[in-house]
Amino acid sequence: MTRKPIIAGNWKMNKNYGEAVVLAQAISNRLEKDWLDRVDVIVCPPFIDLKPVKTVFEFDRMNVELGAQNVHWEEAGAFTGEISVGMLKNVGCAFCIVGHSERRTLMGETNEEVNKKAKALIAANMKPIICVGESLAVREAETHEEFVCAQVKAAFAGIPAAQAKSCVVAYEPIWAIGTGRTATPEQAEAMCVAIRQTLAELYDATVAEGMRILYGGSMNPGNVEMLTAQPNIDGGLIGGASLEADSFVDLIKACL
Ligand code: 13P
Repeated sequence: MTRKPIIAGNWKMNKNYGEAVVLAQAISNRLEKDWLDRVDVIVCPPFIDLKPVKTVFEFDRMNVELGAQNVHWEEAGAFTGEISVGMLKNVGCAFCIVGHSERRTLMGETNEEVNKKAKALIAANMKPIICVGESLAVREAETHEEFVCAQVKAAFAGIPAAQAKSCVVAYEPIWAIGTGRTATPEQAEAMCVAIRQTLAELYDATVAEGMRILYGGSMNPGNVEMLTAQPNIDGGLIGGASLEADSFVDLIKACL
């Protein structure tokens, strides 16, 4: 089965309002509309930049999708500082990252919360990008596959096959994020195979074959081709290299 690749930029806590608009416009200017038939491009700016970034791509009729970096699972109410699924949908988000390792380690986000967020997004027909990945200590203990597959099982608990199909999984080894130390294509592929096998066990082979699994962690224009050449790596979730239009668009071109 051929899966449409995804290049997703996670801007993390970078770019103020004006800078976000400038970056979105620079990306839009460098894209060809027909590329987007062959690769899904998603940008995930900070919450306050979502609407202006969407406006740039809409004005240019550029079919770039918008993603948020986090969400709360409740619909509304007394949750100071939080953002709901409905609010994200309202500004045009189709995707949302959940369970990024920075949120798991710095904000104490648990597997249960990741699962609740994924379910809330699915209920609103939004697509979660579910992040999983092991620390260096877990990799050195050689329990990384077990650890990551347990994260996958917990994230998908109670999600039926029909909805799981719309989810994206991003394998991001923590030791490769922002460190310049990329997983080798073999290491990344081996984990993506293990994740796909886990999905096949949870659902079935057809569902698992149809789902897109991304790699993230120091992906850049120099290593993207080797990584995405692997049969089970369907694109990337990119941090640093998504903050410059040239490098982000080079990553997209590599997937054409
Ligand atoms: P870097 O590409 O900066 O390593 O970040 C990866 C990441 O965390 C994307 O979500």
